[in-house]
Amino acid sequence: MSDFMDLFGRRQSCRKFADRPVEHEKLARCIEAACLSPSGCNAQPWSFVVVENPQTVAEVAVHAQQLNFNKFLSKSKAFIVVLEEHAVLAPAVRRILDSQYFAKGDLGAATFAICLAAEAQGLGSCIIGIYDREKIAEILGIPIEKQFGALIAIGYPANPKVRKKIRKPLEETARYA
Ligand SMILES: Cc1cc2nc3c(=O)[nH]c(=O)nc-3n(C[C@H](O)[C@H](O)[C@H](O)COP(=O)(O)O)c2cc1C
Repeated sequence: MSDFMDLFGRRQSCRKFADRPVEHEKLARCIEAACLSPSGCNAQPWSFVVVENPQTVAEVAVHAQQLNFNKFLSKSKAFIVVLEEHAVLAPAVRRILDSQYFAKGDLGAATFAICLAAEAQGLGSCIIGIYDREKIAEILGIPIEKQFGALIAIGYPANPKVRKKIRKPLEETARYA
């Protein structure tokens, strides 16, 4: 349990990446971890585009720096795009729920698995919420109508110091019934 909490405690959004390339194998491990995530009806409604070619990484970074946000991304060494795929739910579930009903949660689980797997391998990650989806889709040859679950920047952290976590007080967040 302490290893588990330690990993969760060390994971933080990295906004300063070192000038050091990320090994292909480490990115592949992140994808393996994502694919171990739970999903509604085990539908696994995800696919991933791992961006590791330096020129492509630079192009994606440009379109993830909207409105002057996320300038640090020019130092990102890789990106992982989490894409939403059609979910095939169990027939009984499909009768009462839309096929994509669980998908957003499933993609969230996969996204966090990537961040934790990155951390476990000494990498830093940052989930990016503001980006030009259409431009990035075009660069990566992703069909324009495809929904993005997340864009995750990855690289070695320039500063390994773990910041204090800013979170709502636990007693305001959970109650035990
Ligand atoms: C959906 C989502 C979108 C986010 N978008 C950005 C972003 O565009 N830029 C950024 O620097 N951080 C972004 N973050 C990171 C959050 O700011 C961060 O997770 C939060 O402040 C908690 O800090 P921590 O991750 O260091 O624990 C995003 C996180 C999530 C989950």
